[in-house]
Amino acid sequence: MRIVLIGADGQLGTDLLTCLKGSHEVHPWTYPEVDITRPQELDQRIKELEPDLLINTAAYNQVDAAEEDPGGAFSLNALAVRGLALLCRDTDTALMHFSSDYVFDGSARTPYTEDDAPNPLNVYGVSKVAGEYFVRSILSRFYLVRTCGLYGTAGCWGKGTNFVDTMVRLAKKEEPIRVVNDQWITPTSTSELAHRLAELIEKGRFGLYHMTSSGQCTWFEFAREIFRILDLEPTLTGVDTEAFGARARRPAYSVLENRNAERIGLQSFSPWTQALPEYLAQKGHLQLR
Ligand SMILES: NC(=O)c1ccc[n+]([C@@H]2O[C@H](COP(=O)([O-])OP(=O)(O)OC[C@H]3O[C@@H](n4cnc5c(N)ncnc54)[C@H](OP(=O)(O)O)[C@@H]3O)[C@@H](O)[C@H]2O)c1
Repeated sequence: MRIVLIGADGQLGTDLLTCLKGSHEVHPWTYPEVDITRPQELDQRIKELEPDLLINTAAYNQVDAAEEDPGGAFSLNALAVRGLALLCRDTDTALMHFSSDYVFDGSARTPYTEDDAPNPLNVYGVSKVAGEYFVRSILSRFYLVRTCGLYGTAGCWGKGTNFVDTMVRLAKKEEPIRVVNDQWITPTSTSELAHRLAELIEKGRFGLYHMTSSGQCTWFEFAREIFRILDLEPTLTGVDTEAFGARARRPAYSVLENRNAERIGLQSFSPWTQALPEYLAQKGHLQLR
């Protein structure tokens, strides 16, 4: 299959490239050479390449910054996605696009399935839902994948970071660490997610999917598990959302159930507690012990 991968040096993009390039003709596109907020630049490239599948991992992921910059969030997470969907429709290309657990309001106390209605609490979540609806309203051949709490090896090598690496960095600096203890999520390794996505592409079953590791924890419990594995003992305090004082409201519970993935027989994800040590070893953090 000929695949165009947008955001190929991001967290998920990096692992997807590794996973897919052995069995597919993958064209990795990176920013700023390819900027999806400028659809006219993509048009010619896609028409020349005639891919079977376009994968979009690009996103505006700064949840707090989005509150002050709704235009930026909507430009990348919604309008650019509309542009990609229109281009895919016009060129008969399938689209794989990613969304987030933050499309939900967190009032549930059992994992959200694909049948639950989104009701986002913040600008980022609204922009991701808008992107989802553009994909669903324009295309029939799409994979729309909601995921949660991503961490991958590219997090620190590119511009950004991720929660795991941030915790390790703060612990090494011996600074007191405050982490929210009343928001429930599922940390998910982009390496494992990429393998399951490759399997989904092989199956060719289009639709909406929740895809995360199994299990759940609070951000505080996630941090505590990182430090337990690494034998680090920083001053770690669990705080509630109000005391933490982040700019954007976040769902108190955004655990996802991978119901549709299980229905089509995708291999199950491992528990997040199993994927985490593999990542820490791969990233070289275990040498800290
Ligand atoms: N991270 C999470 O915890 C999380 C949770 C739930 C859902 N998701 C979703 O999962 C998907 C993948 O997330 P991720 O963590 O892999 O993201 P990421 O690491 O931030 O990667 C995004 C990639 O897109 C590129 N990009 C930024 N602006 C672009 C533009 N205008 N045109 C083209 N490319 C652009 C980035 O390049 P630069 O690095 O050069 O800016 C980066 O390579 C996203 O849809 C995200 O919303 C993420």
